[in-house]
Amino acid sequence: MSEEIIKEIKKRRTFAIISHPDAGKTTLTEKLLLFGGAIHVAGAVKSNKIKKTATSDWMEIEKQRGISVATSVMGFDYDGYKINILDTPGHQDFAEDTFRTLTAVDSVIIVVDVAKGVETQTRRLMEVCRMRNTPVIIFVNKLDREGRDPFDILDELENELKIKVVPLSWPINIGAKFKGVYNLYEHGLDLFTPSKQTISERVEIDDVNSPLVDELVGKADADKLREDIELIDGVYPEFNVEDYLEGKVAPVFFGSALNTFGVKELLDCFVKIAPSPKPINAEERTVKPEEDGFSGFVFKIHANMDPNHRSCIAFVKVCSGKFERNVGYKHVRSDKVMKFAAPTAFMAQKKSIVEEAYPGDIVGIPDTGNFKIGDTLTSGENIHFKGLPSFSPEMFKYIENADPMKSKQLDKGIKQLMDEGVAQLFTSSFNGRKIIGTVGQLQFEVIQYRLLHEYGAQCRWEPMSMYKACWIESEDAEALEAFKKRKHQFMATDKDGRDVFMADSNYVLQMAQNDFPKIKFHFSSEF
Ligand code: G4P
Repeated sequence: MSEEIIKEIKKRRTFAIISHPDAGKTTLTEKLLLFGGAIHVAGAVKSNKIKKTATSDWMEIEKQRGISVATSVMGFDYDGYKINILDTPGHQDFAEDTFRTLTAVDSVIIVVDVAKGVETQTRRLMEVCRMRNTPVIIFVNKLDREGRDPFDILDELENELKIKVVPLSWPINIGAKFKGVYNLYEHGLDLFTPSKQTISERVEIDDVNSPLVDELVGKADADKLREDIELIDGVYPEFNVEDYLEGKVAPVFFGSALNTFGVKELLDCFVKIAPSPKPINAEERTVKPEEDGFSGFVFKIHANMDPNHRSCIAFVKVCSGKFERNVGYKHVRSDKVMKFAAPTAFMAQKKSIVEEAYPGDIVGIPDTGNFKIGDTLTSGENIHFKGLPSFSPEMFKYIENADPMKSKQLDKGIKQLMDEGVAQLFTSSFNGRKIIGTVGQLQFEVIQYRLLHEYGAQCRWEPMSMYKACWIESEDAEALEAFKKRKHQFMATDKDGRDVFMADSNYVLQMAQNDFPKIKFHFSSEF
């Protein structure tokens, strides 16, 4: 292992910002880029944010997604660190994309709206973080607006996100009376002046009992702050970085992204405590980032929707060693050596060809159909990374061939779209029909359109009423067979031939879980 690689790894902070739409993810991302000098004016980030007006027009959404390839990963330097922010689509129909992006990050920042608290999408994304013990920091946003009591918010975060929290900053009032935050981690008072571009100054304060606090915020608010802090000290444990790194505790910051308030505190703490790339468990062994041999995996494939340019970009997360342009790497699934003449990196919202990349970095590789989600590239070793699960889809339709002359094209198209991770394919064990499962209605339209325009195949959807698909297994082979026989009508296989139970209602699923205690039901494909 070389000194150079170790130095580069220690500098890397690769993370995603997740939130329910409208909580302020785009605004926060933009402000972080401003601090990194990656952009110079607010309003420059288009991000993967999909305009509200476009929610039912998926072509428009795809156009916006196309534009946002460059902002899929935003790299910048800050205070000696190399930061990579992985953008995640805000639209819930693309939640599966977000799930997969979370497999490529080393930590996460969650943005919560102080008035709305924890919303559905955040809850679901947190489940993925919990599965992987991803360290999370929470930013409670929009303190300049009326919202909930901060203690209530903390309770809600603990209950809804099922993680212990420790506040590292504390607001003085909220909404129109918002005066600033007291930094509990570094002991300082940040006074609030509404501003979209400038950065607030901090007043260093050793002790919250100092009369300076009364002077700055008034006696009543200073007393309330002291009371609050006493309560916090009594209720919340002291912040322990190890607990955060193990995903057991989430530090909480309060601020207002729009006003660039509390953002620098968040960033300064983040670079200090957030993890650099960690060892990753592959099927064969644990791969350490500082190893000499290069390894990386494809976590996302971005297709170009323009039928004249059918290329894709495969996003590869570098896991170990150094990636270099024009060096032959083994594509483990096909056992072929491939060289990449035009790998791109993402710095300051620009895509440019890179000569080399280090663990934690994301490299974009132009692709014409060689890659599948989860594929591994290495210097030669056979490594298969775990941790790219599919999640139980929630919407299902039978897919039928609408042009009998084109059944080959249809099969090929379906296979490739599934490899790209657009949706999941199941085959009914009962009648052999093909079922497509998605997390959002839009995917069905996307699939139909792409099958026609890219593969010349026509499909037709037929409705099916289904609640959830879950993967099943059992240590008791007889019990498994008995279950499959009893539920024959509801059994299917996924694209890898694994058993999947298709429950048509929550009640049926619960009954099955009760009646067949020897069967394990899994809601993600990785178990
Ligand atoms: P998202 O990516 O999570 O979907 O959220 P985004 O940053 O786009 O923010 C959603 C809305 O909330 C935006 O307003 C944004 O300006 C506003 N916002 C973000 N942070 C704050 C904050 O700290 N305080 C207040 N008061 N508002 C905040 P919009 O009107 O929907 O969009 P825009 O027209 O301003 O872009």
